[in-house]
Amino acid sequence: PALPPFSVPLRIPPVARPDRQDATTDYYRVRMAETQAEVYPGLQTKVLTYNGQFPAATIVAKRGRRAVVTQYNGTSRPTAVHLHGAHLPRKDDGHPMDLVEAGQERVYEYPNTQPGATLWYHDHAHHTEAEQVYRGLAGLYVLDDEAEHDLGLPDGEYDVPLMLRDAQFDPAGQLVFVLAGFAGRQTLLVNGRPQPYFEVAARKYRFRLLNCSNDRTFRLRLSDNRPFQLIGSDSGLLPAPVTVTDFDLSPGERVEAVVDFAPYEIGAQVTLTNDLAEVESAKSVMRFDIARTAADHSRVPPTLRPLPDLGEATVERHILMRVNLGATISSLLDDKVYDPNRIDQRVKLGTTEIWTITNTDVQAGIPHNMHLHLEQFQVLDRDGKPVTGHETGLKDTVLVPAGGNVRIKVRFTDHPGLFVYHCHMLDHSALGMMGQMEIT
Ligand code: C2O
Ligand code: CU
Repeated sequence: PALPPFSVPLRIPPVARPDRQDATTDYYRVRMAETQAEVYPGLQTKVLTYNGQFPAATIVAKRGRRAVVTQYNGTSRPTAVHLHGAHLPRKDDGHPMDLVEAGQERVYEYPNTQPGATLWYHDHAHHTEAEQVYRGLAGLYVLDDEAEHDLGLPDGEYDVPLMLRDAQFDPAGQLVFVLAGFAGRQTLLVNGRPQPYFEVAARKYRFRLLNCSNDRTFRLRLSDNRPFQLIGSDSGLLPAPVTVTDFDLSPGERVEAVVDFAPYEIGAQVTLTNDLAEVESAKSVMRFDIARTAADHSRVPPTLRPLPDLGEATVERHILMRVNLGATISSLLDDKVYDPNRIDQRVKLGTTEIWTITNTDVQAGIPHNMHLHLEQFQVLDRDGKPVTGHETGLKDTVLVPAGGNVRIKVRFTDHPGLFVYHCHMLDHSALGMMGQMEIT
């Protein structure tokens, strides 16, 4: 449907309400189902949802308190619910083979012992995760950490989630999904609405950005080049804020950025733009309309959260990423398609490792990224150069551009079992760009 940019207001996903609570735990009940959502004004779009919301409600968990989420599958297809970025036992990871069949339920227990971070939950049923996430099975999971509260960062209504993605719609406003169909997805959505506007106060905001696109990487910038103060990455706060005018956000990654609207006059507008747009419609993500004044006692302190010491690495691994553009497209890790019955890496608990990840799709110019389940990592360098910006923090997903070489350092601390690592361009992982590590 044709809709000029900035025609609809931003919606903020609701916060999920626990079904019950006790001294240690919040209990949630979620029903996955096909429902409808108003993406375009006056049109009903068929979507897949957690509890009827598109995108899903945000689960706000407290560090040190467990969350137990019972997921009932009311769709007609198998699902698996992965909590992306969480450090948890294998049974609760949402491994692509741990399916919740239609009409069944599964209880996921989240310990919430790791430091505060913006995590997200999404479908991971092998082969169908790309379509099911695309159709709506994705939501934020904010792990709130008491230790952050004294820092004075913007909070409450000034702490705002922004879930960025692309999509393809037919003229009737229905989602079109084609595997490896990136070229058709030229409509940008923020929190499930096309290129919205957001009325802000002339003060500081903390934005939690998630790229939940299947394949699209954004390079985000404010239209007047006003800086972002980056304060967080996938796994929570950076050691120190980093001021930038643009940053890249590949699928699955999160960035927390403080933007100060105080210098603007009331009535001013500034657009969040995407430098990597291949078409006009993908250039503007959303618009901020500075609508009112407000008191601001928030601040961004000069130091945030030190990086943990991951220790000395004793094991090195090399991972190759490439797409096979033969008669049937497949995506390969180390020249192999994912096989749930194969173990690709054997890892010992308590070891620190360095993984060198190489994207050999130079000719085709296809970017990839790498996501590890279970553990967070430090990005050591890309093509031999130290990383900057939000990549100075702990991460679980890292961009590996065509021809690029990225080194990460990861320590396997606890939780034995079989976990996956994969490209988070979900069309690629659905086509097999995924491997398994057995941790013993
Ligand atoms: Cu966000 Cu294996 O996933
Ligand atoms: Cu990929």
